[in-house]
Amino acid sequence: MPPMRVLAPAKINLHLRVGPRREDGFHSLLSWYVTVGLFDTLTFETASAGSVTSLTCDLPGLPCDERNLVMRVAAALAAEAASATPQQIVLSKKIPTGAGLGGGSADAARALVALNQIWHAGRSAGELSALAARFGSDLSFFFHAPSAICRGRGEIVEPIARPSASWVMLVLPRVQMPTPTVYRRFDAMGLGRVSDITDAPDWLAWSKLSSEELLPRLVNDLEPPAFEIEPDLGELRSGLERQLKRPVRMSGSGSSLFTLYDNEAAAIEATGRVGRVLSVKAMAVELGPKLADDIG
Ligand code: C5P
Repeated sequence: MPPMRVLAPAKINLHLRVGPRREDGFHSLLSWYVTVGLFDTLTFETASAGSVTSLTCDLPGLPCDERNLVMRVAAALAAEAASATPQQIVLSKKIPTGAGLGGGSADAARALVALNQIWHAGRSAGELSALAARFGSDLSFFFHAPSAICRGRGEIVEPIARPSASWVMLVLPRVQMPTPTVYRRFDAMGLGRVSDITDAPDWLAWSKLSSEELLPRLVNDLEPPAFEIEPDLGELRSGLERQLKRPVRMSGSGSSLFTLYDNEAAAIEATGRVGRVLSVKAMAVELGPKLADDIG
């Protein structure tokens, strides 16, 4: 069999409201997740007889053993599948880590979809999503991508229409944000009210808005703690907003920043402008792209 090639898209949180800390240490969320056109690639090839499933990766320093979510979800599905022939998995990383783009979660979720096919495990998207939720709050979304509202700690997922503002400028600062640290600072700042996650917007109406109408409505409750931890990130955001004359938001717990456009030309023009003026990596990518890979 030829290798199976699978794309794992990054996500952004267009809107991220965070409630108070729960008894289990997590926070209840109300968040609009959408995939973006920045992809890691996974390939799966049957390993030689007698070997075990293995992972290699082109990003130096990224663990490829059981610390990697791809290996952990593969082991969990293998334990349930009737015949889990060992796979050689190769991961090519393009999604930066510690960026709030869900790269590790996307890799693991797409690996589960691929292995479910390869191993004829017959799990539905809902069953894979429930299995994946054991390994992290962001994984479940990717079984219902490209656009969904996530609640609970992230594992309760309801697909919705993707936004009509269909292009995004992603800004990728070098800094990596540790998610638990950002949540701890959120608690220390006394943030998070129950009403922040119970008062849901009219998502369908929001999905129809132009980028200029939608952007001022978007909130990320993790921005105040993230910008307190990394003041340079907050200053970069302010500089981008001045330069682009439109709101710029952070994704997840950072460090990536984004703003929206209604078409590709506008996103490319803005990305060029940012690249000339600010020394930061920026790219124009599609929101909710189609995935042209071997899963179909
Ligand atoms: O689930 P995940 O491994 O992505 O979570 C990483 C950390 O982020 C958790 O240990 C917790 O500190 C924080 N978190 C949270 N509430 C969420 C999701 C994550 O407090 N809903």
